[in-house]
Amino acid sequence: MSSWTFMKEVFKANRTTGAFAPSGPKLAEAITDMADLKGAKVVVEYGPGTGIFTEVILNKKDPDAYFVAMEVNPEFVKATRERCPGVHCYEDSAQNTINYLKEAGYDHCDVIISGLPWTRFPEALQDEILEATYNLLRPGGRFVTFSYAYSPWIPSGGRFFKGKLPKRFPKLTVRGPVWLNIPPCLVWISEKE
Ligand SMILES: C[S@@+](CC[C@H](N)C(=O)[O-])C[C@H]1O[C@@H](n2cnc3c(N)ncnc32)[C@H](O)[C@@H]1O
Repeated sequence: MSSWTFMKEVFKANRTTGAFAPSGPKLAEAITDMADLKGAKVVVEYGPGTGIFTEVILNKKDPDAYFVAMEVNPEFVKATRERCPGVHCYEDSAQNTINYLKEAGYDHCDVIISGLPWTRFPEALQDEILEATYNLLRPGGRFVTFSYAYSPWIPSGGRFFKGKLPKRFPKLTVRGPVWLNIPPCLVWISEKE
């Protein structure tokens, strides 16, 4: 059911979906482990799609952690809310997360897990979301995102993953590939200094 929802949106909203299928369970486990959710009080997810990471985040986060997901596609918002009633999922773009955290009484978050298709974004949107991400994190907070294993070697991917991301977050490590995802993926873990 969720794969079917995803495939329909690949055709309707290809530019923002940026993938042919939802991520697999091995990547969901890997990215949520690398995010190290234990002790995080405020957790944010960008681009939940049909909720594959969201479901695992809900299982791994501390029970009292406040959890917000930002998703631009209304079909995916509906799918995520149905699959994961425990998340506050908003239909809005990632750079606007601060507005929803402020409504809930928070100024910063501890962890951001991103499923965004960075290489499909125009540079101005990459810059805007990256800057908002940096400002949203508390010092010592983590921003975790993934790319296809080949992405850093194509021009749009190299610009972002080897250029903009390490420039904004100098404390950056890359792990993987997670081979048991189709296609295999790298996980990029940034820490705000
Ligand atoms: C590659 S899919 C990943 C979906 C899911 N996390 C997964 O791994 O299967 C990218 C997701 O980001 C969403 N998205 C694209 N641009 C966005 C933006 N500016 N703000 C929030 N979500 C966005 C898409 O609608 C889609 O759900």
